[in-house]
Amino acid sequence: MKVLVTGGTGFIGSHTLVELIEAGHDVVVVDNLVNSSAESLNRVAQITGTEPVFYEGDIRDQNLLLDIFGKEAPEAVIHFAGLKAVGESSSKPLEYYDNNIAGTITLLKAMKESGCKNIIFSSSATVYGKPESVPIREDFKVGEVTNPYGRTKLMIEQILQDIYAADNSWNVILLRYFNPIGAHKSGLMGEDPQGIPNNLLPYIAKVAVGQLDHINVFGNDYDTKDGTGVRDYIHVVDLAYGHVKALEKISEAPGLKIYNLGTGNGYSVLEMIRAFSKACGRDLPYVIADRRPGDIDVCYADPALAKKELGWEAKRGIEEMCEDAWRWQSNNPTGYR
Ligand code: NAD
Ligand code: UD1
Repeated sequence: MKVLVTGGTGFIGSHTLVELIEAGHDVVVVDNLVNSSAESLNRVAQITGTEPVFYEGDIRDQNLLLDIFGKEAPEAVIHFAGLKAVGESSSKPLEYYDNNIAGTITLLKAMKESGCKNIIFSSSATVYGKPESVPIREDFKVGEVTNPYGRTKLMIEQILQDIYAADNSWNVILLRYFNPIGAHKSGLMGEDPQGIPNNLLPYIAKVAVGQLDHINVFGNDYDTKDGTGVRDYIHVVDLAYGHVKALEKISEAPGLKIYNLGTGNGYSVLEMIRAFSKACGRDLPYVIADRRPGDIDVCYADPALAKKELGWEAKRGIEEMCEDAWRWQSNNPTGYR
């Protein structure tokens, strides 16, 4: 199938390109490089032997999108493009609503005009807010999101549901990711955050490579096994392969579907520090700090629906996630730049 991948030079997008190409799909990428480097596409080419077709530009540019749909005629869109820093979204809400919401609306209008009605969207477990219990199933309540970034995910889910309700010839798959980490086994591709990372694993990796002093553990008084926050970390290559399976599903014209992409296992901050210490061969220093506002204690998926309906499940454990992240970080201490 020919697929337009928005945000395809980013962390999850670039890994998904590899899995799509290896599964025999044709990929076209649009990205404005606001949070990524086009070098990731050279790495995709190195791994797969195929250079993805790339349009550098913004998904809010309707003329560009119509041009791409006219020239390339993709049969489906995988929509990763968006801003994703939770803290920044609270200080720059307009930028987040403009980029994520207006960008998605422009994309959907161009899809409608071009007759492409198949879309897979990158949503997040953040739409569940603080769950009443774990593991989290897709039919759990959504909506109590505490930041503008999370609200853009929820709003886009709602927009897509409304579009499907108005016109059942659309096929929409909402993928709710848990915590993607790790890197491609080759060490050629990985996560490349600019500045000081907000998320735990990229922060640990920067401590491991000597660019940051120590890890701040945000609270050790949660109601969890060791008091630190518990999350469902998923290897980015497993997550990427989930998109290949979602694309197979969309070719069956499934209507509207929602799937968690997680492992079903929860690990604490201290367990992750230990796993990464093992991968990099030294004990990484950490201090216990205050809780981070908006954080919850425990979050992990029930991945049974994706297994049943997509035939997909995560295969890689935290050891492999940390080893692969370390290989990438130590081979590329300054990322792609
Ligand atoms: P990323 O920042 O690495 O990738 C996003 C890509 O979108 C970047 O390459 C960026 O340059 C591009 N982009 C942003 N705005 C654009 C615009 N207006 N026009 C064109 N390109 C634009 O992030 P990622 O981690 O790969 O995440 C991909 C998607 O998955 C995002 O939508 C994110 O919100 C979602 N998601 C990520 C996580 C995570 O932990 N990484 C978790 C849940 C959901
Ligand atoms: C965060 C976002 C979420 C987003 C997800 C993936 C918040 C509140 N939520 O989730 O919306 O979808 O990233 O991008 O930001 N931790 C530390 N020290 C650190 C960093 C994190 O102890 O330096 C802890 C956190 O308190 C948490 C765990 O590590 O318990 C994971 O944090 P993080 O990687 O930021 O992911 P989430 O908080 O799950």
